[in-house]
Amino acid sequence: MPEIKPECSQASGPQKIFSWPYHRYMSMYRHSLEDPESFWATEARKLNWAQQWEKVLEWQPPYARWFVGGKINASYQCLDRHVKTWRRSKVAIYWEGENGETRTLSYSTLFREVNQCADVLLKLGVKKGDIVALYLPMITELPVFMLACARIGAVHTVVFSGLSAQSLGDRVNDCKAKVVVTADGGYRRGKIFKLKQTADITVNSCPSVEKILVVKRTGEDVPMVEGRDYWYSDLIDEDVHYVAPEAFEATHPLYILYTSGTTGKPKGVVHSTGGYLVFNHSTFKWIFDIREDSVFWCTADIGWVTGHSYAVYGPLSHGAAIVLYEGSPDYPTIDRWWDIIEKYSVNIFYTSPTAIRMFMKYGEEYPARHNLSSLELLASVGEPISAEAWCWYYKHIGQEKCPIVDTWWQTETGGFMIAPSPGIEPMPLKPGSATLPLPGIDVAILDAEGNELGTNQKGYLVIKKPWPGMLMDIYGDSELYKKNYWSRFKGVYYPGDYAMRDEDGYFWLYGRADEVLKVAGHRIGTAEIESSVAELDEVTEAAVASRPDEVKGEAIVLFISLKTGYKPSDDLKKAIVGHIRKNIGPIAAPDEIYFVQSLPKTRSGKIMRRVLKAVASNQGLGDLSTIEDQESVTEVKKAYEALKGCTRD
Ligand code: WTA
Repeated sequence: MPEIKPECSQASGPQKIFSWPYHRYMSMYRHSLEDPESFWATEARKLNWAQQWEKVLEWQPPYARWFVGGKINASYQCLDRHVKTWRRSKVAIYWEGENGETRTLSYSTLFREVNQCADVLLKLGVKKGDIVALYLPMITELPVFMLACARIGAVHTVVFSGLSAQSLGDRVNDCKAKVVVTADGGYRRGKIFKLKQTADITVNSCPSVEKILVVKRTGEDVPMVEGRDYWYSDLIDEDVHYVAPEAFEATHPLYILYTSGTTGKPKGVVHSTGGYLVFNHSTFKWIFDIREDSVFWCTADIGWVTGHSYAVYGPLSHGAAIVLYEGSPDYPTIDRWWDIIEKYSVNIFYTSPTAIRMFMKYGEEYPARHNLSSLELLASVGEPISAEAWCWYYKHIGQEKCPIVDTWWQTETGGFMIAPSPGIEPMPLKPGSATLPLPGIDVAILDAEGNELGTNQKGYLVIKKPWPGMLMDIYGDSELYKKNYWSRFKGVYYPGDYAMRDEDGYFWLYGRADEVLKVAGHRIGTAEIESSVAELDEVTEAAVASRPDEVKGEAIVLFISLKTGYKPSDDLKKAIVGHIRKNIGPIAAPDEIYFVQSLPKTRSGKIMRRVLKAVASNQGLGDLSTIEDQESVTEVKKAYEALKGCTRD
């Protein structure tokens, strides 16, 4: 268990956002597990349905269909119902460009832009169920396109703008997107990255793509192919104010979001409309409970699930005012984020441990230069937050008056699963613990054989009951869906994380138990990097492990054996890094490359990952007592010594 520093061990969050007695939470939690259907039906009634559902849940393991028969429109939920009230003049988005430009969109402006965008998509022939890939920087058009797709029943798949042409192509080809929306470029650390050109490379090998829509951001010239490529601004009809939102089945997919797993290719996580919206709406309320006048800022890029759920759908469905920032956290000055918090009087701030660790390194003098007194609540996501980072965040950003909510969840879960509700009283926070499961979330910790573990025992986290935000499937690969999440332990959802429950029932998350890395909060499968490197002529075999990194959490270490005739060299290392950057994106670039004679393998030919990790992190082999076969233990030790010797050269 992380050490609890005395100065913030009793951090109960004196600034209450709302007050929710602990016994009420407990009775709500119990009811939610005893009668999940009535519990979720009550939550669902808080949304605006065009047609009431007939059945709350159809559970045919491992497939859950929520609110069957119900009809709803996500864009109506996020916009129409607000513009019918005084909120039409309320700020929806404070947008801040990296170069200092700003835009403020009221709910009515956002509504108009979404309607005009929906009209453009319809004119291009986009229909219900068509897939639209959004490869955009953090500009207001990104949420506009998401909501416009939702308005007409098109399924969006947002591809993080830092990913490479090949990564975009893999995703577009996998889901057979019909339209790709991109921009002429984007800004990152003051430089322009040419998105349209990257999209062009992709689209040439994507037969499903009929049209490319290009949003003007940088104003640079870009090549346009007649009949295929259109400037978005040319197609907007200023006279259009309204495109009727069609009501879609609750089980109609709202979006597909690709994420890394244990296979060589990212998988398309499919989220529903009704169940996802209900879960998203309720979890946002429970954890952030924002007031009408609050300003909310989630720093995640919309290319990841955090941006989908808690920068777009969650806050907008509540009619909240959000901040959207285009650029890098520390550009052009180290205190850019603190400046933004001060400028917009942000009340609720949601970020990642990686960012906190980076700012810790820069020093507390940067936030200290700013008036951060508007902050009321801080939140964290993406990886375990150490007690040290938690306390720094509490002290130097929250100024010892803001609770920190550490939220554990995944792309697949759609929303928060384990997190503290800041208003529960008395509920002291423990630095480094995500605390308690949310209502409706039935969790257990199992040993390798599937037996439930008791207090203070580390094991595999599982979810025992379906919840409305649960992914519906893996796009085009139901077998993988079953294998990945439902086969490790019988009848329960397996997220792939290690966890422990302490004597107070609080959960401590310890990172991934599978071959998935979390590098600077980004989820990367080791197999993805390995299969990309294996494409190189020089390489016989490659394997990835990670070592702890002070800022990024984990750093990527690549082990490579070369074909005869090739020699290790710095140029080759550079070429390998270049290849990965080009094929996957800069986020997957290795921090270290070791050339080895051969990779350590078991007799059955499996790579000994434990050995790689031990060598990569320069730590011993740890506890080998779980390996029953003594011969294997000897083998592992031998392989470790051999590999260590080899990487020292
Ligand atoms: C990890 C991000 C510890 C975890 C929303 C999970 C966390 C993976 C936390 C999902 C947290 C996320 N504490 N670990 N608060 N939040 N994780 O799909 O390993 O990008 O399985 O979703 O991030 O990453 P993903």
